[in-house]
This record gives sequence, C-alpha cells and structure tokens, in this order.
Amino acid sequence: MQRAGAQLNLSPDFTIYLPVGRLTFVTPETFLAELEPVAGQLLDRHLATTKEWFPHELVPYGRGRDFERGYEWSPDDCNIDGAVLPEAVRSALYVNLLTEDNLPYYFRDIERMFSMDGAFGTWNRRWTAEEGRHSIVIRDYLTATRAVDPVQLERARMAQVSGGEVPSPASPLVGVIYVSLQELATRIAHRNTGKLIGDRSGYEVMARVAADENLHYLFYRDLATAAIELDPSEMVIAIEDVVRNFTMPGTGILGFDQHSAAIARAGIYDATILHEQVLVPVIVNHWRVAHLEGLTAAAEQARDALMKRIERLGQLAKNLAARAARRELAVATA
Ligand SMILES: [Fe+2]
Ligand SMILES: [Fe+2]
Repeated sequence: MQRAGAQLNLSPDFTIYLPVGRLTFVTPETFLAELEPVAGQLLDRHLATTKEWFPHELVPYGRGRDFERGYEWSPDDCNIDGAVLPEAVRSALYVNLLTEDNLPYYFRDIERMFSMDGAFGTWNRRWTAEEGRHSIVIRDYLTATRAVDPVQLERARMAQVSGGEVPSPASPLVGVIYVSLQELATRIAHRNTGKLIGDRSGYEVMARVAADENLHYLFYRDLATAAIELDPSEMVIAIEDVVRNFTMPGTGILGFDQHSAAIARAGIYDATILHEQVLVPVIVNHWRVAHLEGLTAAAEQARDALMKRIERLGQLAKNLAARAARRELAVATA
C-alpha cells in the first residue's frame, strides 16, 4: 500500500479522504474495510444534500373516488386531464412501481454485499426508507388517477414479491458498479416517464422520485470512483463484467419483455439512452477508464473488451434509431 491519507477530488466542492493509498489487490473484505470511511463521508454528503418530502403533498387525491367491489378497470377510466394514457407510459409506470415494490430483496442483497454495520449499514437502511417512499407516491398517484388496472397491478405485485427475483451481483466490487449504472438509468427512465404522462401532478411525482435516484447514483458512483482509485485493475474487470451482463431491474415482472419493448419504442429507456446517457458519461468520461494506468494484463484485456463493447453498443443504438426513423417515415407517408 502507498500514499496514506490521499485525497480524492470528486467535485469542485467535495473532497473525500482515502484512509490508505492504492492497494495491490482488492478482495471483498479489503474493499469494504478500506471504503467504509469513504462510504461514511458520502453518506454525510447525501444527508446534507437530500431534502425531506412527502408523498401526500404530490398526489392529486381530489381526482380519486371509491372503487366498488368487483370493479373492472378500463383504460378510459384514467383520469389524467381527460387524456387516455399512452400504452408505453402505462408500461413504464407499471414496471417502475413493481421494481420499487421488490425492495425487500434489494435490501437483502445490498446488506449481503456490503454490510449491516457501520456506514454501509446506515446507508442501506436510509436508502431503503427512501426507495419505499417512491412506491408509496407512485402507487397513490396511480390509484387516484386510475392510470393502471388496480387488480392487475396488485396481482403482479404479489407475483413479483413472492418470486423475489432481483439482479444479484456476485461481489461488492461488481455490485457498486451495477448500482451506479442502474440508479442513473432509473433516474433517466423516471424523468422520461414523467415527461410523457401529460399531467402536471404525474410529472412532479416522477421528477421528485428521479431527484432521489440521482442522489443514490452519486453516492454509488463516487464510492466506485474511490474503489477505482484503490485498485483500478480489479475495478476495470468488474466494470467489464457489469456492462457485459447489464439489464435493468425488473426481470421476474409479469410481461417484463413486452413492457420493456414498449418502453424502448417510446424512448423512455432504450439502447441509445444506455449508451449516450449512462455508459459514456460514467465509464468513459467520469471514471476515465481509457486513461487508467498501471493495469494488470487481465485488466488491460478487460478494458479492451469493455471499450469495444461500448463502441459496438453505440453503433447498434445508431442503427436502431435509424430503423425507427425509417419506420416512422413509412407510417407518416403511408
Ligand atoms: Fe426508487
Ligand atoms: Fe434509487
């Protein structure tokens, strides 16, 4: 180990102090021990930055009315400024909410990967409380506006939580990369969903939730930055692993593939967003993976594969966007 007490400048107004310098090798145990003080500082930053908010202040309860026993939902019941909600937006709200409902299993995995003690444990419990607020506000909004079928939603929640299926990263190294990318991707998907709802209250609900996801993203991204500083080689291998296998949370949701396809077609979350708004800004520009020095041979190989994969994904996204544009043109001129 070298460079005891090194500083890591994460932003112009926030510096964290690494307890030790670069490690020769990071194991899950050393990762946790070395990064625990960093997690503590990032937790303090999170608590100083985040603002208290209340779901009940955002939900338009006045638009709601009692549900009669045996009520059968139809898309026309949706009370969003008189408009029928686009199918893709309904898919996004359904998948977003069911993902938030699956919180017990995310809590379990984050506790398993990191720790129930110290700053990691405090962070995980705080994060869980914040995520729980997201499902409260989205569900209340959907129930008051009748935007989705409440029976289908409740049955899907029962199936989802009974199945308990969540992405399970194998180690904290892989886990911190996965949650960094996933929180950012979720922030973007929530914001885009809100923009397409076509309703001021719905927009505000999703913007408020997205603001929380952004702070979650910053916590994990900067924790990963510190981990990369400690052992760039192991972390590059972890980044390559996560990008190769990356899927958004939500597998196990009834009809997930069909909803994901609708969400992609509407531009709420798709390959272009993953490439341009997640992988490039975080891995290429923020973690500056291409510029890391002193990598092991295995890490050099992983970096090579990673950069090629990001490039290929960019090309694929361009091709898909061109195909979608051609399809739209064909429909418009038919
Ligand atoms: Fe959330
Ligand atoms: Fe989050």
